[in-house]
Amino acid sequence: MKSEQGQLPKHVAIIMDGNGRWAKKRLLPRSAGHRAGLKRMISLSEHIFRRGIPYVTLYALSAENLNRPQEELDALFSLFREYFTQNAETLRKKGIRLNVIGDTALLPADVTEMIAAGIEKTAEGKAGVLTLAIGYGSRQEIVSAVNEAVRAGKPVTAEEFSLLLGTGGMPDPDLLIRTGRELRLSNFLLWQSAYTELYFTDKLFPDFKNADADKAIRSYLLRERRYGSVGKND
Ligand code: FPP
Repeated sequence: MKSEQGQLPKHVAIIMDGNGRWAKKRLLPRSAGHRAGLKRMISLSEHIFRRGIPYVTLYALSAENLNRPQEELDALFSLFREYFTQNAETLRKKGIRLNVIGDTALLPADVTEMIAAGIEKTAEGKAGVLTLAIGYGSRQEIVSAVNEAVRAGKPVTAEEFSLLLGTGGMPDPDLLIRTGRELRLSNFLLWQSAYTELYFTDKLFPDFKNADADKAIRSYLLRERRYGSVGKND
């Protein structure tokens, strides 16, 4: 398999962690951290698309996060309402198609409807795909794909299996960034990140500036991707 060293990633995925700690450091409620995170998320995703990277996938809420206190969830749901109603038109104008993976049925019905409206409004976008993982769990996604394959009643290849996932049809992430100091994947894109380059940073998500994303991309560009093969200099 040829090395893709030096080529821009096609797909960048981000685990946006650290909003709560960012707020705590400032003696603010966790909801203030999520609001700061949303502001950062909008600027950061636009920046990555401007760099010529066509797929951006962001972990906004895990299935497990839905067990958080109702007050925090309500604050997040309000941000989702705000985001999907106020940003879909901007995305449409930029040619960015919105996509959501995860079990949105776990969300309040009006949020689910706003998400569906945002997806519909941007459906013709050809410049890039912004995927938000909401109510998402990778194991749940895999189990649901396995069940679909079983129902179809014939064995599938890895490529066919990929198509049954929420990310079906998208390239696997080339680079996965996790902010907020933790060194784990937390049930995010487990199948899809088999050969993804991982980048961890201590920066809390609201502090992760566009220049920090450039630094992560530069680090990616220096890596030699071997996909289990031997390296050029080995
Ligand atoms: C993890 O930080 C972050 C979240 C659970 C939410 C991320 C959400 C946003 C950035 C806003 C998303 C909005 C839309 C519209 C998609 P944490 O709360 O676990 O931080 P901590 O580890 O410091 O407590």
